[in-house]
Amino acid sequence: MTFISSVQKINHQLFIKRKLNVHIKRDDLIHPIISGNKWRKLKYNIEYAKNEGYEGILSFGGAYSNHIHALAYATKQQCIKSIGIIRGEQHYQKNSTLSQAINWGMNCQFVDRKTYRLRNNAEYLADLQQQYVNYFIVPEGGSNTLALPGVGEVITELNQQLNYDTLILPVGSGGTFSGLINADRGQHELLGIAVLKEADHIQQQMQPLLNKTNTVASPSNRKWQLLKDFHRGGYAKFSKEDEQKIYQFSQETGILFEPVYSGKMVLALLDLIANDYFTAGQTIVLLHTGGLQGLNGLVEQSRLSTPLSL
Ligand SMILES: Cc1ncc(COP(=O)(O)O)c(C=O)c1O
Repeated sequence: MTFISSVQKINHQLFIKRKLNVHIKRDDLIHPIISGNKWRKLKYNIEYAKNEGYEGILSFGGAYSNHIHALAYATKQQCIKSIGIIRGEQHYQKNSTLSQAINWGMNCQFVDRKTYRLRNNAEYLADLQQQYVNYFIVPEGGSNTLALPGVGEVITELNQQLNYDTLILPVGSGGTFSGLINADRGQHELLGIAVLKEADHIQQQMQPLLNKTNTVASPSNRKWQLLKDFHRGGYAKFSKEDEQKIYQFSQETGILFEPVYSGKMVLALLDLIANDYFTAGQTIVLLHTGGLQGLNGLVEQSRLSTPLSL
């Protein structure tokens, strides 16, 4: 199946004042459940698992993981099974993310944090593979080499949709960013906004996913940058002020953002503009990577002072 997400111009006083053309690629609208980069990353993983005759896909995630949520739905839709190795206790099965995943047929196995830390360990993975022989194992966040061509299609689509100078996106594991960098081949400035503190770890994870010409080690002769100072205190951390700014921007633009990924991208954009990073006349594209299901989890955990909605 092919979906081409739309590109919209964002009309905002600040952008008009600064003479910036800001657009947004609405990957959040690709599908009501498998939205954003999840669809892009899972597409060829599911195709591969089916073609190779696997019974299902096994993957990893936290209790509110967008990836787990999307994987459960996408595998059900494609008539294969799924197993989620979930960080945390059994009671999380009742939360909005996992109750839906379980309802769609995912077999959720809860592991403690120490075990979860082994998720990329070769021995642990070999044990899991022995236990679940007919399952294709996909890493946390779906970030493997099969995710790259799916993500790269964002660039193919954008090149047909508009001329732009800079593409901005939120970065977690670095899989999405790697796919964009490989596909773009240095045509545009790509700014990845690290949403967690461990940006050096993200770069390490990106290295094996990047084409040889895109080594993370040569920052001076490349057009992409992982910006490390916009994580707002760490993964899923944000202040009331951050939340208010995201809420206001959503209200002003009519586009919903959440504070874990896309909202941090918005805050970074506003900070970059305030610091005169861009020059007048530049065309900037934001990639809306979806993840709006995560808002329900934040509400359940009483993490939001205003329910973020339009
Ligand atoms: C909504 C959303 N946006 C962005 C990201 C970051 O993507 P990546 O892990 O490929 O860097 C994630 C995490 O996978 C996500 O759920």
